Amino acid sequence: MQAVAIRTFGDPTGLEVVDLPDPNPERGQALIVTEAIGVGGVDSVIRRGTLAEYGFREGHILGGEVAGTVAAVGAEVDTSWVGRRVWGFAGLGGGYAEQAVVPAESLVPLPANMSAVDAVTVGSSSVVAHFGLRHARFAPGESVLVRGAAGGIGIMAVQLAARGGAGAVAVTTSSTERGSRLRALGATRVLDRSGGGAGEASDDYDVIIDVVSGVDLPSFFDRLRPNGRMVAVGVVGGNPPADFGTRMFAAFQRSLSFATFSANTVTDSDRRAVTAESLAAASRGALESVVHEVLPLEQAALAHRKMDAGEVFGRLVLTPSGQASK
Ligand SMILES: NC(=O)c1ccc[n+]([C@@H]2O[C@H](COP(=O)([O-])OP(=O)(O)OC[C@H]3O[C@@H](n4cnc5c(N)ncnc54)[C@H](OP(=O)(O)O)[C@@H]3O)[C@@H](O)[C@H]2O)c1
Repeated sequence: MQAVAIRTFGDPTGLEVVDLPDPNPERGQALIVTEAIGVGGVDSVIRRGTLAEYGFREGHILGGEVAGTVAAVGAEVDTSWVGRRVWGFAGLGGGYAEQAVVPAESLVPLPANMSAVDAVTVGSSSVVAHFGLRHARFAPGESVLVRGAAGGIGIMAVQLAARGGAGAVAVTTSSTERGSRLRALGATRVLDRSGGGAGEASDDYDVIIDVVSGVDLPSFFDRLRPNGRMVAVGVVGGNPPADFGTRMFAAFQRSLSFATFSANTVTDSDRRAVTAESLAAASRGALESVVHEVLPLEQAALAHRKMDAGEVFGRLVLTPSGQASK
């Protein structure tokens, strides 16, 4: 089968198309013939080699989120999965391939009318957004800021906050055009990356869902209301400065909370339930799947160049050759 591996860590030219033996599912696993593969920011980070300390090596096949048809299952897996169209989560590797092995416990059936492309656009982003908002104890009527709203997670957080009855949904983004698109998805206030915005009243928020982190993160503590909660769900801007805790303590009298949130702490059954709900919502039009572009699997390097250039609004998706997007 065809797959895309990291030949050398670094820029996207280090990605190469390789031919590998077809994988076999082991106990508890399912083999998916992929129709669509989600491309995520974490894939770039692994490609650069910055996570080598976590055991990622050259030769690694990127990709976690896939959708397609179950071709085989390993021992102790219900054989009725075979032949079903599903969403599956391979973890941090193995997805950029014509066939991907995933834990069977990650499988979620696709709604009948749902494309594989939409499934990998909505699936894990909605899980992070849903549980990120829950981690922040978001309640209807509260005001929410989504920092770094133009990516898959942010777009889901904006929609879920709006549909969850947020009093206001602010976003940070880098362009007016993106701001307009985010307004169409439920944002009520558009800020620039620093949290400012021409013509926008300065405001503060009960909840900040932060996809960015980075050196500017502490300045957003100033935008939290008393008892406000900031949950970092991503680090696309790098780690926060080492003294960021000092900045929180400077606001001691406002009883602020800061937390990180990783979907790794969600149980398999909760993850499946929320993924299934989100896919169902997307299939009936209650949640919008924002696909930036669909590219052939062998153009994974181009997909990474687009990601690295900051061109992507929503989700980039890879499709193996010969697989029409259904
Ligand atoms: N918590 C979890 O369980 C979990 C799961 C999967 C992934 N992640 C993490 O989530 C992140 C990827 O999420 P994503 O795919 O939604 O994000 P993304 O598309 O990579 O980035 C989101 C947006 O952030 C803005 N941005 C990028 N760099 C920035 C910077 N230096 N300063 C300010 N804004 C910046 C960009 O929008 P504008 O240009 O419009 O500003 C970009 O579209 C990664 O850090 C990944 O590790 C977390």
